[in-house]
Amino acid sequence: MRLLTLLTTCLSVAAAATLGKRAPTPGQLSQVTSFGNATTAAGFYIYVPKNLAASPGVIVAVHYCTGSAQAYYNGSPYAALAEQYGFIVIYPSSPHSGTCWDVSSKATLTHNGGGDSNTIANMATWTVSQYNADASKVFVTGSSSGAMMTNVLAATYPDIFKAAIVYSGVPAGCFVSASGAVDAWNSTCAQGNSIATPEAWTDVVKNMYLNYTGARPKMQIYHGSADTILLPQNYQETMKQWSGVFGYNYSQPQSTTLNNPQSGYTKTVYGESVQGIYAENVGHTVPIRGTDDMEFFGFAS
Ligand SMILES: *[C@@H]1O[C@H](CO)[C@@H](O)[C@H](O)[C@H]1NC(C)=O
Ligand SMILES: *[C@@H]1O[C@H](CO)[C@@H](O)[C@H](O)[C@H]1NC(C)=O
Ligand SMILES: *[C@@H]1O[C@H](CO)[C@@H](O)[C@H](O)[C@H]1NC(C)=O
Ligand SMILES: *[C@@H]1O[C@H](CO)[C@@H](O)[C@H](O)[C@H]1NC(C)=O
Repeated sequence: MRLLTLLTTCLSVAAAATLGKRAPTPGQLSQVTSFGNATTAAGFYIYVPKNLAASPGVIVAVHYCTGSAQAYYNGSPYAALAEQYGFIVIYPSSPHSGTCWDVSSKATLTHNGGGDSNTIANMATWTVSQYNADASKVFVTGSSSGAMMTNVLAATYPDIFKAAIVYSGVPAGCFVSASGAVDAWNSTCAQGNSIATPEAWTDVVKNMYLNYTGARPKMQIYHGSADTILLPQNYQETMKQWSGVFGYNYSQPQSTTLNNPQSGYTKTVYGESVQGIYAENVGHTVPIRGTDDMEFFGFAS
């Protein structure tokens, strides 16, 4: 009996180890080990819903520092929402010790530069072709380090991502390492001391994908006023960045509404493509608002 249990365990471990070679199991977080150009060692986990839409959308959900694909799968609402709306969720997993994302190297801050952003973009491209997904419904979101990466992906792969939701990050390029280090911490930025004009932040984005003239993802930015890890000035800087990229006047938002979408939150809309939500007295990180995310991404109306 014991031997049988042992044998069964061995068999299921072997089965798990070869999972990447098989099609991901619907309704289960599955690892994909072979997907074309993995330019860094970032892990690729995928959730294909049992209720897969005919031409599904894709959401890339990027974990926070110290997190993992598994932790973000468990701690975010996207897999459950995938069953409801039929989209696929990609959960990338950081290859770096401490498991933050590389948002500091020249490689990751450049379109097709060979950094983590490139690897994640390739996961999205692979998923679109593998599942006949709808390329006009490819989205990205993330929390903290994953929110920084979300801004970086929006800047480096505007051709892939159609919308992005940022939960408590910093502007794209704010965490840059002057020495080019991979996965570096940048305390100037974290402390809210990287302050620039909308024009300067716009150039930071445009320089990540030179000569790109196509559409860019619409952006929704959340930040808490009591964030002591990535100081709230990063909210202002991120809003400057994306309002600048879209040609909105940062000093003149279209509308500002108090207690929206909930008491103590303030929503500022610059136009169709940029909106921010500042959460009074909320620390690091603003809780994910899954139902609202579905609206922003266009799965729900
Ligand atoms: C791999 O990279 C090459 C060169 O950048 C590109 O042409 C190709 O489409 C990529 N393949 C995948 C599956 O992303
Ligand atoms: C931190 O980022 C800022 C831009 O936000 C940059 O000017 C500075 O050089 C970076 N610090 C280091 C130590 O690389
Ligand atoms: C961008 O365009 C300029 C002018 O045509 C060209 O010199 C440069 O090589 C291009 N850069 C990239 C990265 O394609
Ligand atoms: C932007 O808005 C500010 C505040 O309303 C205004 O003073 C400024 O002239 C506007 N800038 C442009 C370029 O329209």
